[in-house]
Amino acid sequence: MAEHLEIAAGNKEEKYRLLYPQIQALVESETDPIANMANVAAVIQETFHFWWTGFYRVVEGVLVLGPFQGPLACTRIRKGKGVCGTAWQENRTQVVPDVDQFPGHIACSSASRSEIVVPVRNADGEVKAVLDIDSAELATFDATDAFWLEKIAALM
Ligand code: SME
Repeated sequence: MAEHLEIAAGNKEEKYRLLYPQIQALVESETDPIANMANVAAVIQETFHFWWTGFYRVVEGVLVLGPFQGPLACTRIRKGKGVCGTAWQENRTQVVPDVDQFPGHIACSSASRSEIVVPVRNADGEVKAVLDIDSAELATFDATDAFWLEKIAALM
């Protein structure tokens, strides 16, 4: 069992190692943030086939749906609301192994069971967007995802 988990974690690490330079190249060659969010959502989704991968941008004091891959989603999230609004308010990555245990979780889809939300910051450290990834399985995300997705967010 432990060995099985180690192999699974290894695969994930390996996928992020391959994905990171691809995203670095994409982001370095384009300055438009929406174009970059669109391609980043696409390559993450192609690599991992999560339920939903996308961005919410801070627009006039509210998170507004940005580029994403997956089923339709809520369009606006207020600061402090749900997992996304909490990541924004606390300026900190949220790893949620079971969305039903997260007070105030916003269920855009009943299929979503676990979630990770990573802040995307400007040079002053202010949150300008969040990267939200949802899984249809429980406990999909861990410190490996947080580490790599934060590195990816830092490129943007
Ligand atoms: N579940 C998120 C809302 C966004 S959707 O899952 C795409 C939340 O609680 O912030």
